[in-house]
Amino acid sequence: MADDLYYREDLALVHHQGFGFLAVQCAPAIVELLGPVRARGGLVVELGCGSGILTRALVEAGHRVVATDASPAMLDLARRHAPGAEDVRRLVLPDDPIPTADAVVSVGHVLSYLPDAAAIDRALVAAARALRPGGLLAVDLLDLDYGASRRDAPDFGRVTDGWAIVTRFSLPAPDRFARDITTFVRGDDGSWRRDDERHENVLVATARVPALLAEHGVAATVGESFGAAPVEPPPFPGLRTIVGRSVEAPA
Ligand SMILES: C[S@@+](CC[C@H](N)C(=O)[O-])C[C@H]1O[C@@H](n2cnc3c(N)ncnc32)[C@H](O)[C@@H]1O
Repeated sequence: MADDLYYREDLALVHHQGFGFLAVQCAPAIVELLGPVRARGGLVVELGCGSGILTRALVEAGHRVVATDASPAMLDLARRHAPGAEDVRRLVLPDDPIPTADAVVSVGHVLSYLPDAAAIDRALVAAARALRPGGLLAVDLLDLDYGASRRDAPDFGRVTDGWAIVTRFSLPAPDRFARDITTFVRGDDGSWRRDDERHENVLVATARVPALLAEHGVAATVGESFGAAPVEPPPFPGLRTIVGRSVEAPA
């Protein structure tokens, strides 16, 4: 993957300042799920940490965290936002090796950014195999249902003093959700810089994920939130959570 495909400097900043709410919302339930990992001083590996919003919550809860992402701009932000992480490093899914861990976590449909369903499967299997026995997996993924819920989504726009964003949505195929994103970020001299990114997400039948993970020693369930209580209203209908536990030594 090219260094600058997703989340170059400007969109990374806009994400951090304006769109961290999902990570904020998920954090307490993930911290609770990971209680036993913290109690034994286990290592948490975060995939697609973005600007480090969940990373920081985990560190503040007393976890040892290795935070990873493909975007160098996101990693720069994460280093500043979560300085207590054990490491913040580049890891490009699905093929970069995932460090052995007591928990692998990922929020913000990171795996849905991979090029196709086979790549998503490879990343899920790699995450399962990275877990120590008894380790915990908590990730979210866009289901095929997500496309239906966004079929007629109107364009989105938001303006702040420092940046503006305009997003156009489309569904180029039943298993693809695309966003054409234009950002304007104000420079120190008051001028505005434009950047454009196209984000293509792959939608999958999440119901088949537990069987895939079971083949790799992880007993998992699909849900709509990381906690026992559903988040109401769901922030993104069709964004599913996969929570699993490694029940045997990975093969
Ligand atoms: C929607 S953002 C979520 C960021 C963060 N988890 C949060 O919730 O704020 C998706 C993240 O996935 C990362 N990403 C996309 N493709 C990736 C890949 N192939 N490997 C690792 N990270 C990837 C992006 O750089 C971005 O930081």
